[in-house]
Amino acid sequence: MTTAPSLPVQSLDGPAEPDLVRIRDVIYQAAGIFHPDNKLQLLQDRCGRRMKELKLRSLREYTDCLTIRAGQHAELIALLNEITIGETCFFRNPAQLDALRRVVIPKILQAKSKLPLRSLRIWSAGCSTGEEPYTLQMLLLEEAGALLKDWAAEIFATDLNQHSLAHAQEAVYGSHSTRNLPPLYRKKYFLPRGDQLQVNPLVRSGVSFSRLNLSDDSRMTLMNSVDVILCCNVLIYFDLASKRRVIQHFFNNLLPDGYLFLGHSESLYGVNEDFRLVHLPGSTAYVKRERTPAGGKAI
Ligand SMILES: C[S@@+](CC[C@H](N)C(=O)[O-])C[C@H]1O[C@@H](n2cnc3c(N)ncnc32)[C@H](O)[C@@H]1O
Repeated sequence: MTTAPSLPVQSLDGPAEPDLVRIRDVIYQAAGIFHPDNKLQLLQDRCGRRMKELKLRSLREYTDCLTIRAGQHAELIALLNEITIGETCFFRNPAQLDALRRVVIPKILQAKSKLPLRSLRIWSAGCSTGEEPYTLQMLLLEEAGALLKDWAAEIFATDLNQHSLAHAQEAVYGSHSTRNLPPLYRKKYFLPRGDQLQVNPLVRSGVSFSRLNLSDDSRMTLMNSVDVILCCNVLIYFDLASKRRVIQHFFNNLLPDGYLFLGHSESLYGVNEDFRLVHLPGSTAYVKRERTPAGGKAI
């Protein structure tokens, strides 16, 4: 079997391998994901997997596959599937989930209670293999007879990685993904599948999955009228310019007073000033600030 050659990423005294830099640019243009110089080895390893699959021997040939040969778009999608393998699990950030359930959702429902349409829309952006949106749906089901009685709740879950989305739809998980699952939820919302667990049909039916590239400006404009966006541990792969673009879309996608949640170590500091930071018990979130008619910001 042909194995991908191991090329030097960067010589000690010279610039990075030009084809790898070109591939980095292609990925950045397509998905906003930026590989700094210290991550080029990782990128090269991921390209190596694709080269092995395609039986190519040089990065030069692989760059051609990505840029000029027929099927270049399909190859770009295959490479993006290779480089966006995301770590996640059920109940990844319990404090955040608790704040969402006990503070944020009641506040949103209260604010919308006078509207004729009783609907709550939540978007898990960068959902990976589905643990995050299924966790959200289980929380909503726990509130179905109380807080959310007479409300229609929808969860949209999107990701760039086709393999992750296929896994999400199959909804079968091993012990690593389910390690934080409270016993009550394990019992109530999962079915045994050998030594794994499958999310039950009731939970699955409440989440709709689709492929969405957060850097696709035209598709991003379609995700509108959302009450809450969770985009956790996704923007860490983006540089400042790409983050700003995505966050501006989130601002436009949210309804007035809508909430944006980021990952534990992420913030909008230096990225965007249109959101107001709010401190919640054990967690933080960003609220969409309404613009004043003059274009300034409301206090
Ligand atoms: C670390 S996982 C986060 C999963 C989940 N949100 C969590 O916090 O547990 C990051 C996810 O971001 C996705 N991602 C990266 N770049 C993306 C892009 N441009 N558009 C959509 N999703 C992207 C990856 O495919 C990956 O599934």
